[in-house]
Amino acid sequence: MRKLCVIPGDGIGQEVVPVAVEVLEKLLANLQIVEAEAGWGCFQLHGVSVPESTLATMRECGAGLFGAVSSPSYQVTGYRSAILTLRQRLALNVNLRPVRSWPVVSPKTAVDLLILRENSEGLYSGREHWEAEGVAIAERVISAAASERLAMRAAEVARARQASRITLVHKANVLPLTCGLFRDRCRAVLEAAGLGALVDERLVDVAALQLVERPEDFDLIVTSNLFGDILSDLACHWSGGLGLAPSLNWGEGIALAEPVHGSAPDIAGTGRANPLAAILSVALLLRHRWGEESAAQRLEAAVEAFLRDAGRVDFGTQTTVTIASGVLAAL
Ligand code: IPM
Ligand code: MG
Repeated sequence: MRKLCVIPGDGIGQEVVPVAVEVLEKLLANLQIVEAEAGWGCFQLHGVSVPESTLATMRECGAGLFGAVSSPSYQVTGYRSAILTLRQRLALNVNLRPVRSWPVVSPKTAVDLLILRENSEGLYSGREHWEAEGVAIAERVISAAASERLAMRAAEVARARQASRITLVHKANVLPLTCGLFRDRCRAVLEAAGLGALVDERLVDVAALQLVERPEDFDLIVTSNLFGDILSDLACHWSGGLGLAPSLNWGEGIALAEPVHGSAPDIAGTGRANPLAAILSVALLLRHRWGEESAAQRLEAAVEAFLRDAGRVDFGTQTTVTIASGVLAAL
């Protein structure tokens, strides 16, 4: 029996998550769903964006699906981003973000790359302060432990997908200590894993340009937190945009699947939310958390089959239900 902690969150999270759960239920017998709260609505109700009970449920299940959360655009005392809290409190230290070409919706045909983003430190360390009036400082934390942990996951993923290339992305020409440490520890782990011949490296600005010019040349990209945040948004253009961008927040014996998009308050409640990123995030749980490779492939093949015909589908304002029934029918 597998357990899944389901955290729909705010806005369209409430609309796309039930679709992804329905797809998963069709693929896995004996799935137990446990609902949990997080986000802005939760904060307004309980005064906390991630209740301890949600963390406990996630730990108990060892797997979760997160929709999206809204954040106020003004400072609210005591409010902290729910996803950053979940990543930190549950030690979801690696963020896996695949980017691949899909029929019809992708602007290129041969892209198939995967970004492994460090998910716990870097410029997300939370260490930001005023040094003097008019001078603010953010500390970029890079540790050997986190870099090695990321590289170990990279080795695991590289073997599983028989990667032809592993690109370490950094800015060691300007940040020789932090980026130098990151690069050297990643390289050492990958060499010890017998994958040294696949490793190359790029400065982050060069990598950005090459991801625009020749995305099909990349296979596995391993990078620090903020670089991965930016490059994964850039790269998901080649999938067809944020609507097709899944991710997996990945720790030891625990993982939280998450569509990269936000809560989209402008279209929430209109029926126009695209559930594909949530559906594809579930494939990452199947593959990487539960070792259900064939179920993951079945799911992705269903999305592919659906999209191949999608040119003929009349979405109208019923996007969510149209895609849901289309993918379920293709399964
Ligand atoms: C992402 C998002 C988050 C991040 C935000 C919402 C805090 O942009 O998952 O990429 O910066 O990690
Ligand atoms: Mg982002």
